[in-house]
Amino acid sequence: MTTLPPYPSLPGLQQSFRALEHSPMSDLFEKEPDRCRQMSLQAAGLTLDYSRHRITASVLEQLVQLSEDAHLGPCRQALLQGDPINQSEDRAVLHTALRHPGDPDIQVAGQAVMPAIRQCLSTMEKLCDQIHSGQWVGWTGKPIKHLINIGIGGSFLGIRTVLEALAPWQRPGLQAHYIVNVDPTDLANTLAAIDPECSLFIICSKSFATLETRLNAEAVRDWMRQQGMPEEARKRHFVAISSNREQAVRFGVDADNVLPLWDWVGGRYSLWSAIGLLIPLMTGMDVFRRLQAGAFAMDEHFRTAEPAANMPVIMAVLGIWYSNFFGAQSQAVLPYASQLSSFPSHLQQLDMESNGKRTTNTGHAVEWETGPVIWGGVGTNGQHAYHQLLHQGTRLIPVDIIATLDNTSGPGLHRDWLFAHALAQAQALAFGCPESEVRARMAAQGYEQGVIDCLAPQKAIPGNRPVSLLVMDKLEPETLGALIALYEHKVFVQGVIWQINSFDQFGVELGKVLGDSIFEHLTGTQTPPEPDLPPGLSPWIERYRAFHKRCV
Ligand code: F6P
Repeated sequence: MTTLPPYPSLPGLQQSFRALEHSPMSDLFEKEPDRCRQMSLQAAGLTLDYSRHRITASVLEQLVQLSEDAHLGPCRQALLQGDPINQSEDRAVLHTALRHPGDPDIQVAGQAVMPAIRQCLSTMEKLCDQIHSGQWVGWTGKPIKHLINIGIGGSFLGIRTVLEALAPWQRPGLQAHYIVNVDPTDLANTLAAIDPECSLFIICSKSFATLETRLNAEAVRDWMRQQGMPEEARKRHFVAISSNREQAVRFGVDADNVLPLWDWVGGRYSLWSAIGLLIPLMTGMDVFRRLQAGAFAMDEHFRTAEPAANMPVIMAVLGIWYSNFFGAQSQAVLPYASQLSSFPSHLQQLDMESNGKRTTNTGHAVEWETGPVIWGGVGTNGQHAYHQLLHQGTRLIPVDIIATLDNTSGPGLHRDWLFAHALAQAQALAFGCPESEVRARMAAQGYEQGVIDCLAPQKAIPGNRPVSLLVMDKLEPETLGALIALYEHKVFVQGVIWQINSFDQFGVELGKVLGDSIFEHLTGTQTPPEPDLPPGLSPWIERYRAFHKRCV
């Protein structure tokens, strides 16, 4: 493995790495006591404090230069103007157009995209009005109360993340549900919780070919029939969002109820499109527009800010510093806000499906590390679970701590404790508690030397663990939109530096193909499993068939 492609700034960075590799962060703070203020920047309602990183101002300059060596500027322009930067699929990547409030002249294959986007938003608005006014009724004349999203991956994760975060903005009288997995439990639990007469199912599938979604949609359609829904009333209970309109109509969704999606919107970026319909249905179109406005503010920051003061660029190059120089394998995202509990899952798809790549966008094997494992969960819960490994484990895991100054609900005392702990973790990770300090404390407490020698190394916390503090005044539609867009752009910048295509996902296809063929073997009633099955499969297929009393 090499560190990175042979960018001109690479040798200088390697030298800086060797100089900084072992220096404690406390030294950096000693030399620059005002570091916290100097290494902070603001954009779109978010403040990023990146002072607790193993960098100096000059290393940061070199890292920013790296992004310029990788031609970030022209690549960003190509992204925003709709060039087919997803080259393997010959597609533009235009989730940013979906949240643009103006009328930029963005064209894909000679076709302006903004009129179609506006048209779709207006259809969404009409649909929301009809539901909210009670004008849209089910087959027995009752208004819709249950809104059920059927979709998986990008047709689910972003929607749930946003709706959980915006719980205080939810309209009364409506309940959101999700049917996601092929595991029948998902379907059964949701069907047990809804009233079919008052239910609207939103089938979200860009391809309308995803197994889980197709199976769940078919099961729901059958269930609704069993519950007494007349065929002619299907229009009142099913809508779909798909770029495969024909398939949605063939499934049985009324043509007027199929909202469009375009091939230039990637699944993991699709919450900004009609795929996100459940968001305005549950909160209102005004809230959805505020979410989009926050994302647009971050897009504008990303487009216009100098690289050295550009939040997505800074976060991206810091990630590369640890992945490619320090050898970090994962990145933790720890929101200190329960409403963001699903955000790490959304980021897992966003980041790992985008940058989990092993070839360059010209088809050569990469010789450097690419996307890290993304994981995380809410604080303070994690402090009583996996933070032990963050503080004292053998691996270096950079951490993003996301916090709000004000929490939307609950007693002020809890809010104060929550923020105190977010800061405490940032400090503990960065500075730890040196063995010398532990020894001195134990000696003062009268411990014998033998005990001190044994325990002090175990109690010491090395620190020097990199932390970004990402803080917003309040979690609101705008700041949430900005937060999601920030990570989208971070992922993009890293993909540019790693020279990979962040917008395809061929890696998920093999499992789907194998799943289809294994399903045939598991369920085939006529032919016993073939003897020439790939190694490892026969015993399980035989056991499964025997268990279900199918011939073996
Ligand atoms: O299998 C991966 C994936 O294609 C994701 O990229 C996508 O978000 C998800 O499946 C769902 O796809 P669809 O919206 O086409 O059902």
